[in-house]
Amino acid sequence: MIEASGLAYRYEDGTTAVDGVDLTIEAGERVALLGPNGAGKSTLLLLLGGLLPPDDGSVRYFGTDQPGDAVRDRLGVLTQDPGEYLFNPTVREDIEYGPAQLGLSAAEADRRVAELAERFDLEHLLDRPPFRLSGGEQRRAAIASVLSVDPDVLLLDEPLSNVDGNNEAELLDLLDELSADGVTIVTSTPDTDLVAAVADRVVLLGRDGRVVATGSTREVLTDTDRLREAGLAPPTVVELFDRAGFEDLPVRVEEAVERLRRQ
Ligand SMILES: Nc1ncnc2c1ncn2[C@@H]1O[C@H](COP(=O)(O)OP(=O)(O)O)[C@@H](O)[C@H]1O
Ligand SMILES: [Mg+2]
Repeated sequence: MIEASGLAYRYEDGTTAVDGVDLTIEAGERVALLGPNGAGKSTLLLLLGGLLPPDDGSVRYFGTDQPGDAVRDRLGVLTQDPGEYLFNPTVREDIEYGPAQLGLSAAEADRRVAELAERFDLEHLLDRPPFRLSGGEQRRAAIASVLSVDPDVLLLDEPLSNVDGNNEAELLDLLDELSADGVTIVTSTPDTDLVAAVADRVVLLGRDGRVVATGSTREVLTDTDRLREAGLAPPTVVELFDRAGFEDLPVRVEEAVERLRRQ
């Protein structure tokens, strides 16, 4: 789906945000970009989404040499600030915007709005101006507008920050459904507790915009020394089982519960 090689990006003030990143995202994968604040996750997602031109290196999409513009409809990018997505007078118009850009009929746009509003609990907010929503509501509205074009690849920058418990569970279920439908999902997060719920593979970024490890979610999350070196605390369940002296560390709460029941 995405093949990045040698990606580098420096901001105008000279800050190197991404430095020599090679990354391949296969169809249907769920990948987490994990790293501490300032590691370069947001910048890398913008590069992968074709929203920033790299200073070095290149990104290929869908095995072709088409530039980002040509494949834009197939990529759904949720930037860290959901406000960037919400620029129409109402939430409804924000969600309709993508389908309208694609030239879909008004009836189809209406159908998509209704479906997404129901899924994201936005029905009561459709006629409100997006800037009058809470942070979590804005994030749900932004995700709904990203999904309105039915993308094949989702690039989500910290999609669960500011989202409360109920909506978090809903959103995780939705990501599972999308993944089951074959959508490729790349999620950035600084939260090691979240990773196992959103990814099968992890790309770990250190503080300097470089990849310090890639591997299965289990490999990366149970390597507590490496996580700490990268500036991250291990997931709570990993830390708990590690300190309690278990050899084989669970990475999800469900797995930990199962283990304790058997013990
Ligand atoms: N607009 C900007 N101008 C200058 N430096 C920036 C800008 N945006 C981000 N940075 C810097 O680039 C580095 C990577 O930032 P970012 O990609 O936002 O990391 P993350 O999303 O992992 O927190 C950080 O050192 C950050 O301070
Ligand atoms: Mg960020």
